[in-house]
Amino acid sequence: MKISFAEPELPHTGAAVAGIWGERVLTAAARRLDEASGGAVVRALASAARFSGKKGELLAIVAPANLGLSRIVLAGLGQPEQAGARVFEDLGGALAAHLNGAGEIEANVAVEIGDDAPLGAGEAAAALALGAQLRAYRFDKYKTKQKPEQKPSLARLTVSSAETGAAKRTWRLLEKTAEAVFFTRDLVSEPANVIYPETLAEQARTLEELGVKVEILDEKAMRKLGMGALLGVAQGSARPPRLVVMQWHGAGNPGGAAGGQGAPLAFIGKGVTFDTGGISIKPAAGMGDMKWDMAGSAVVIGLMRLLAARKAKLDAVGIVGLVENMPSGTAQRPGDIVTSMSGQTIEVLNTDAEGRLVLADAMWYCQDRFKPRLMIDLATLTGAVIVALGHHRAGLFANDDELAARLTEAGKAVGEEVWRLPLADSYDREMDSDAADVKNIGGGRAAGSITAAQFLQRFVNKVPWAHLDIAGMAWSSKDASTVPKGATAFGVRLLDRFVAQYYEKDQSSANS
Ligand code: BES
Ligand code: MN
Ligand code: ZN
Repeated sequence: MKISFAEPELPHTGAAVAGIWGERVLTAAARRLDEASGGAVVRALASAARFSGKKGELLAIVAPANLGLSRIVLAGLGQPEQAGARVFEDLGGALAAHLNGAGEIEANVAVEIGDDAPLGAGEAAAALALGAQLRAYRFDKYKTKQKPEQKPSLARLTVSSAETGAAKRTWRLLEKTAEAVFFTRDLVSEPANVIYPETLAEQARTLEELGVKVEILDEKAMRKLGMGALLGVAQGSARPPRLVVMQWHGAGNPGGAAGGQGAPLAFIGKGVTFDTGGISIKPAAGMGDMKWDMAGSAVVIGLMRLLAARKAKLDAVGIVGLVENMPSGTAQRPGDIVTSMSGQTIEVLNTDAEGRLVLADAMWYCQDRFKPRLMIDLATLTGAVIVALGHHRAGLFANDDELAARLTEAGKAVGEEVWRLPLADSYDREMDSDAADVKNIGGGRAAGSITAAQFLQRFVNKVPWAHLDIAGMAWSSKDASTVPKGATAFGVRLLDRFVAQYYEKDQSSANS
């Protein structure tokens, strides 16, 4: 879909979309269409009893013959003072779905903002374009027999507003957001015979084109570092593991003090390219879902790509631990005791609790080498977080209230919400092992995502840390406004916002 921006004028081809404010108040574009069509807009509103202009409402009318248009779509915008970026993004998403469903090839959307609007007209136009682009994502490279009518029809979307220049400028930034989200969604969507540790590492390597420093550690290097926890998971697979370290230097102050303001922000991702459960094997039903058990790593890679693409003014490091969890004659057994890079021994009582083993070594390596200012890990870590929060919010765990609050705020701003769950000594004690320093599962099924987080915290060495359990959010079984069903890339936009709002230089909103 080609996106362009233009001055407001009456369109003459394709679909014309105009906004209606709450209580059926016409925008200027809606008035123009009404006049040109001899009152068709007002007549349609009068006969559509259920359309009131609330946000999310769409009303399609067949365009009168004289205008050259294929259809007119009236879009509810809600109250003008509440119409922020999310409202325009959601509208863009809803329109992309509607226009593709209707077989439209070309559309012109007029974007207007209210008097007390929380954003400018150009920003609103770019937000609409982002929503449309994000919703139009498809992963169909393996569908070789699609008929034209099964493919998206919308080829051109023109967004008109009073601030074309600002719209284009904002879009140049948001376009990069969409590209990074698509990159992550593609990685997550690929099956495990295509994306496995070596190939995922090669995908991370492509970030070098954007100026990211990429290092790939192989098994031998990890053995030397003492990463017995990660390697224990990998040992059952014919695919060798990888650890990828991505560094973005955007702060412009080389040699900043370790641990202080000059230290990088660190993002760690779970990259289990397929999780059979290992010897503690999972049931057959639904096991195919475990191709997306590397979503945490794909989000970290996508985030690093975005930070580099938009030349973010900070230093960041992304580390992903890539393994395949398989049962085999060389696989680790329940009861095995491994020694992690931290020196702590781990009794592996369930080989399906593998993500935490990978993260334990990846996080320790990160702290040991980079002394980061803070560390955030993302992982499809537990089924239990889906029991707790469903597919509406990711689980957030943190040892730092300010960090937790910032992540929560950033999530709200971009519509990728998180909900904090507790960490406490009483849960931590459940992870004590009779035979080793720690075991990899808690006492029972209860509080499964909390005990997993407690395990991770044993590998956190006095650094502000947050853990996002994205098991319920990485993949979606139904379409949402800006996220078609499938891989969501949940976390890319959240962390990009988190970085931009609180940690970049020259940000008016930066407060640290
Ligand atoms: N990758 C799974 C968690 C998962 C389950 C993600 C369902 C997405 C959907 C993880 O490795 C796992 O198997 N966790 C176990 C932990 C248990 C053995 C303590 C779980 O959640 O059942
Ligand atoms: Mn598992
Ligand atoms: Zn897993």
